[in-house]
Amino acid sequence: MADLTCKDLCMTFTNQQSGAKVEALSDINFTLKKGELLSVLGPSGCGKTTLLNMIAGFITPTNGSILLGDRLIEGPGADRGMVFQQGALFEWLTVAKNVDFGLRMGGASEAKSRERVEKWLATVGLQGFADTPTYQLSGGMQQRVALARCLINDPEVILMDEPLGALDALTREKMQSLVLELWKKTGKTIVIITHSVEEALLLGERLFVMAPRPGRIHKEYQLPFAEWGLGRSLRDIKLEKEFSAVREEILTMIWNMEEEIMGGA
Ligand SMILES: Nc1ncnc2c1ncn2[C@@H]1O[C@H](COP(=O)(O)OP(=O)(O)O)[C@@H](O)[C@H]1O
Ligand SMILES: [Mg+2]
Repeated sequence: MADLTCKDLCMTFTNQQSGAKVEALSDINFTLKKGELLSVLGPSGCGKTTLLNMIAGFITPTNGSILLGDRLIEGPGADRGMVFQQGALFEWLTVAKNVDFGLRMGGASEAKSRERVEKWLATVGLQGFADTPTYQLSGGMQQRVALARCLINDPEVILMDEPLGALDALTREKMQSLVLELWKKTGKTIVIITHSVEEALLLGERLFVMAPRPGRIHKEYQLPFAEWGLGRSLRDIKLEKEFSAVREEILTMIWNMEEEIMGGA
């Protein structure tokens, strides 16, 4: 298990037709210690997904490097697991077949992986659903399947791109607690992207607020709320003065960024 380091990371996209360049990310530098929980927040287009896709190895940076321990990331790998927004499961397959997909790709037999599937389904609160067709599940349950599918492969780093964005408020709150629980239980390094200021505050021990044009880390926070959330109701935490103060500060920050974007458009 190892630290994740992004060093001098830049990504410039070039439009094939017009030749116009977009600086999606410029000069990103940080190290995440093993087991750290990072949330990434920022207005649309500031490069959040690009950053995650680069760590996942789906796209190659135009400059800079990403290291997991002393290994250079040059493509996708089993050491990094991804949880996408709702809708990335094989809905026509059973829950078990979705969850053990990675194991079977690795050559494990269905019988052999069954025990591990059951274990992870229990961990995410889906005991007894192994043989249910995935399309029959609610959105929240489907995201539990997505978490189990990721965790069963035992990745070192878990990458989540707005995984709870499509859920209703109550389900979302339950899932936020589950993410914290899994973080504590597994000790994994987690990077979670979100559009929601509250979610970023609740789920990040560290939080990056990103800004666009070029995409960059605008401000970094160290926060106590994720740790608090391991033992307390998230709704209680949201009522704390300390929580509202940071929330207001960040809301204003992003509000001003959006104003600038609109003004400059
Ligand atoms: N494959 C691509 N080709 C061209 N431009 C892209 C591509 N992917 C992302 N971009 C641009 O890079 C910027 C950052 O995008 P993205 O990482 O998706 O932002 P976010 O996830 O924060 O909304 C945007 O301006 C987007 O239009
Ligand atoms: Mg995105």
